Parts: sequence; structure tokens; C-alpha cells
Amino acid sequence: MPLPSIVLDPPFNITRASHIALTVADLGASRVFYEEVIGLVLTLATEDALYFRGVEEACHHSLVLRKSGSAPRCQQIGLRVLTDEDLIKAHAFFQQRGCPVQWAEVAHQGKTLHVVDPFGMQLEFCSRMPVQPRQITSFQRHKGGCGLRMDHIQLLTPHLRLALEFYMSLGFWLTEYVAPDDDHIRAVFLQRKGNPHDLVFFHGDGPRMHHFAFVAPETQHLLRACDTAGELGFGAKVERGPGRHGPGHAQFVYFRDPDGHRIELFNTHYQVMDLENEPVRWDPNDPAVAYPWGMPARSRWFEQATPFEGSEVTAASPKPNPMTLERFLRED
Ligand SMILES: [Fe+2]
Repeated sequence: MPLPSIVLDPPFNITRASHIALTVADLGASRVFYEEVIGLVLTLATEDALYFRGVEEACHHSLVLRKSGSAPRCQQIGLRVLTDEDLIKAHAFFQQRGCPVQWAEVAHQGKTLHVVDPFGMQLEFCSRMPVQPRQITSFQRHKGGCGLRMDHIQLLTPHLRLALEFYMSLGFWLTEYVAPDDDHIRAVFLQRKGNPHDLVFFHGDGPRMHHFAFVAPETQHLLRACDTAGELGFGAKVERGPGRHGPGHAQFVYFRDPDGHRIELFNTHYQVMDLENEPVRWDPNDPAVAYPWGMPARSRWFEQATPFEGSEVTAASPKPNPMTLERFLRED
């Protein structure tokens, strides 16, 4: 089966994966973890929410934590569009395809659209936020892993091939994919901002949020985050790495936050902006794909993830889904 083609004139202009909203049990514990270990900047603390941004980010928030008495959930993954006109186009696009879509009032961001995609992922689109001073040269405020900026979000879905087709129809470019051949794709790396990925989909029980990732300035910041985690009692939260990725090539470390949400720190990767770049296929039978060196991930890295609030999780079939996207959208 051929890979979908890049759409150069998408129905509306998504610019990047920009933010994520999660529920947590204890805002105090979360604040210590994200400020001291990951090194994010706290923009605002309210009675029931924390708003963080990366050290070099100017927009109000890239991570929102809302207090909840229920099991931890991912409320939305945030995607930026270029203008409010794109939001109006997005509303029409999703409505036409039968996806639940509604305008939402969300604090500290502009006009906002909430959408449930065909695979149960809860999406939040906006085009603007209030601006704060960047802290990139405020060196005395840099802590832990010095998380600079939100880079990507990895998701699990039992409908991987259909998600690839759907998100490429929205203008995402496929940069890399993991597959023994093009009929048996296990993971896809999709981008809008010009580096290898904004959204990553892996085959698995879903919809679930596997991890979100912040860029760290240097490799040493990955180790500093681990040392800080150990000192503050979060040592057992270092789940995988530090290590080196095959796809993307970045060095990384994964943590579980106090509620079990998974966050990756990594030292960024290359640019992809030229149309003649073909997607890179990684053969999962090649051991260098997952582990160029170092210890393999423990099984829970593959199995555990955060469900979305309001979406049922469907078990993934080991066999590829034979349904077409058109039929799936009709029957959903
Ligand atoms: Fe990642």
C-alpha cells in the first residue's frame, strides 16, 4: 500500500504541537517536579491549576496541570494554527467530517476550538496566547533539565494507518516511520514545524497519550535532571535512559511525573523542510532502531500511557486494520 502524499494546501494551517493539558492529584508535588527536575518556568499558579512554559518560550503556557480527584487523564493535546481564520476553517472541516467540535472558553489563550478526532484524541486548537518574557538569558533561573520548549507529543492508537492518512490530509509531513514494509506500519513521525516530529503515532491500545517532550539545551542537562530527580526523591521516576534514539537520533531521558504522566527530555534533532526528502523507513527487526546502545526500555514504557478524559480506550489488534479512512469516518 503506498504511503499518503504530502498535502501542500491543507484545509487549515496547523503550525505546531504547542501545549498539553493534564489532570493531577497534587499540584504541590507536580510543581516541585516540573520546576526543579524538568526545569520549566511557572507562569501562573491558581488554586486549581498550574501553567508552565519552557525557558525559551514566550507564550503563556505549554503545559497546564489541573487538579482533579479522579484518575490522571490527558484533557487535551494543543495544536497551534496560524490565525483565527484557520480556526474557523478547522471548525467547518471537523464538523463536515462528523467529529465532535465546539468553541471553548479557555483561560490565558485566545479563541479556542475543542475537537475529538476520529480516533478519540481530544484536540485543542488556538492561534494566540498572552506573551511573557523569555527566560533564556536569565541564567540564575535555569534549573534541572532546563526544558526549553515543547517539541512533540506521542500518541497510541489501534488505527495507526488511518491516523496517518487523516493527519497527512491536515498537512502533516511524514518524516520517518517504523515498518518492516509499507503494509505493516508500527509507528509514524509527523511534522508541521520543520523538524522530524510534532505528533508521533504508535500502534497500541488507544487513544492514549504516551509522552510529551521538551527540548533540553545540552546532553549534560539530561544528566542534571536525573541528578536533581534523585536528590528530590524522584529517582524512581527516571523510567528510560539516558540513551540515544534511532529515529530522530536525539539523546533522551524519560521520566514519569508524580501522577504517572510520561515526559521526555531530549537534546533536539535535525530539520526537515525540503520536499525532495523522502520519509525514512526504520526496520523494527534492526536492533539499532530502538537501541543503538544502552539498556532496552522496560516493558511498562511500551504498555503504560495516559488515557484521554472522556474517551474510551480500544484494544489494538495485532493485525493491521483493513478499513479505509473514508469508510471509518462514515461508520464512526
Ligand atoms: Fe519523543
